Amino acid sequence: MPPTLPPLLKDKVIVVTGGAGLLGRAFCQAISDHGGVAVVADVDAAVAQAVATGISIHGGRAEALPVDITDASSIQALIGAVQSKWGRIDAVVNSAYPRSQSWGAKFEDVGYADFCGNVASHLGGYFLVAQQFAVYFRASGGGNIVNLGSIYGTQAPRFELYADTPMTMPVEYAAIKAGVIQLTRYVAQYFKADGVRCNALSPGGIRDRQPESFLAQYASHCGATGMLDPADVAGTLVFLLSDASRHLTGQNLIVDDGFCL
Ligand SMILES: NC(=O)c1ccc[n+]([C@@H]2O[C@H](COP(=O)([O-])OP(=O)(O)OC[C@H]3O[C@@H](n4cnc5c(N)ncnc54)[C@H](O)[C@@H]3O)[C@@H](O)[C@H]2O)c1
Repeated sequence: MPPTLPPLLKDKVIVVTGGAGLLGRAFCQAISDHGGVAVVADVDAAVAQAVATGISIHGGRAEALPVDITDASSIQALIGAVQSKWGRIDAVVNSAYPRSQSWGAKFEDVGYADFCGNVASHLGGYFLVAQQFAVYFRASGGGNIVNLGSIYGTQAPRFELYADTPMTMPVEYAAIKAGVIQLTRYVAQYFKADGVRCNALSPGGIRDRQPESFLAQYASHCGATGMLDPADVAGTLVFLLSDASRHLTGQNLIVDDGFCL
């Protein structure tokens, strides 16, 4: 009989910002499924609590805590609460998705204040979480940061896919996600000697009630699947959070069923 391997995330305490979101809740579930403790950290405390309860009633370990990623004192309070309850933090996943009211406007209609506001809350928030956690990790002997990027942080938008839909690919998103991927390299390099690693995970489009015609167009650029479900991306996150990737830092892993090729 081959030896039974321990779960990939056995007893790791992992904070997921935006843990109540579409991807965040799948990430929290996967963390719990692989033996870890998922801290569902979100500005929406009620949904975060529902996610944590849903995991716990099926025997997993999860806890909901409030956080606003644009507020350093809120991030500090989160770190303090997790540290005092669980005695450790192994990793943080930057998966929150702040957007302004006007998010999704056409390029010509994006105002300066909205552009700057979205870059500040999303890219700025990811910076703040990475900064606050990296300093904590350095002081506690090491840690792991995963930032959510996107295919649209690495390649030009395929605008033709959106032509017959009310959707677009916002200009802020391109700037934010390219920034997140480069922020990832910066943090990885800055903390390389401190046992703190930092990687980006860049999903392609995630299935979320988009029109069928759009899904078909999108799928024509992909392999067998097209748009992915959140659970399709979670396996790569588990790898990045696990010791199986312990020598991987400063990288961006694209999970998109071949869309970018
Ligand atoms: N959904 C996709 O198709 C897709 C594709 C590629 C990358 N991504 C990236 O994945 C990440 C998660 O996306 P999603 O689709 O799960 O988003 P979502 O909108 O479903 O969830 C985002 C969560 O972030 C929370 N949030 C918003 N502002 C916050 C703040 N200031 N502080 C803390 N929490 C805050 C929201 O309450 C929400 O629960 C984002 O970085 C997004 O850009 C998403």
